[in-house]
Amino acid sequence: MSVILAIESSCDDTSVAICNNGKITANVIANQTIHQNYGGVIPELASRVHQQNIVPTVHQALLNAKVDKKDISAVAFTQGPGLFGSLLVGVSFAKSFALALNIPLISVNHMHAHILAHFIDDPKPKFPFLCLTVSGGHTQIVLIKDYFNMEVVGETLDDAAGEAFDKTAKLLHLPYPGGPLIDKHAQNGNPTAFQFAVPQIADLNFSFSGFKTSILYFIRKQEKENPNFIADNLDDICASVQFSIIQILLNKLKKAAKQFEINEIAIAGGVSANSGLRNALTQIADELDWNVYIPAFQYCTDNAGMIAIAGYQKFLEGDFVGQEVSPMARMEF
Ligand code: KG4
Ligand code: ZN
Repeated sequence: MSVILAIESSCDDTSVAICNNGKITANVIANQTIHQNYGGVIPELASRVHQQNIVPTVHQALLNAKVDKKDISAVAFTQGPGLFGSLLVGVSFAKSFALALNIPLISVNHMHAHILAHFIDDPKPKFPFLCLTVSGGHTQIVLIKDYFNMEVVGETLDDAAGEAFDKTAKLLHLPYPGGPLIDKHAQNGNPTAFQFAVPQIADLNFSFSGFKTSILYFIRKQEKENPNFIADNLDDICASVQFSIIQILLNKLKKAAKQFEINEIAIAGGVSANSGLRNALTQIADELDWNVYIPAFQYCTDNAGMIAIAGYQKFLEGDFVGQEVSPMARMEF
């Protein structure tokens, strides 16, 4: 029997989940809206809002799961990677909570957790599988041999896929975070209306910075002829940008699947919420005979449910950390 309380505070959302014998029975997410005023996450403000939200979010998760503090077996928390000040709030809270209840502490790598979110619900991927992990800070192809035996086989050399969405959205005067809004507009647009330069990068690596610059130049050029170019073509621009990003991602994923001769394929991270990516992957699965694993929406973007399931696996292995543990803004995979 085990009840894990999990804390996620790596970026701008405070989240607390409960995992009861391997089942997620609460996953509360307190979003921070303040950053919309600035077009991106302001780290100092994020830490302050985590500080305000952490206690009520823990309280709400306990209520939702109908669990009493004394029933908790261990506390799992995101150690990194992420914003140092944000992580500090979650790590300090987790340490105090574990100390007060005299229960073990479990540290979780945020990027491992995005992948292990696939072990929350059925169907679960079979080892070994490949996971395209696409978030605001990361773009990786990971070979997963076992729960904590993972190898990054390809990654971005500059911007992450989520950043490509968010920075393009900023050029289009859409508020932060722009990824979901590009997704929304893309659904009414023509994906082949405009073409953008697709980067030619060797191996299984990615690059999005040149792609982003090509969009910037394209928009500037078009605006010279029509100052209302963005407003007049928003849906088509979003659909075309999204289509290009998906092509870049899926071409590398196909290459990886071929290279490793694996047809168990998963996607994870915030960008895996993108409807175009989800549809394109399902289509490829049919063509290439892949078994694809796409997380439920609530487990794509940052959430403590994924920290709880990763914590549960570590709990089963007795993999605990001491009170000297501290946050790691950059954490090795
Ligand atoms: O995993 P996540 O919640 O946070 C990080 O660990 O970075 O990912 C956030 C990223 C943001 O860049 C956001 O714009 C993107 O995921 N995102 C999306 C969608 N939903 C979230 N991008 C495209 N389409 C979406 N529907
Ligand atoms: Zn994340």
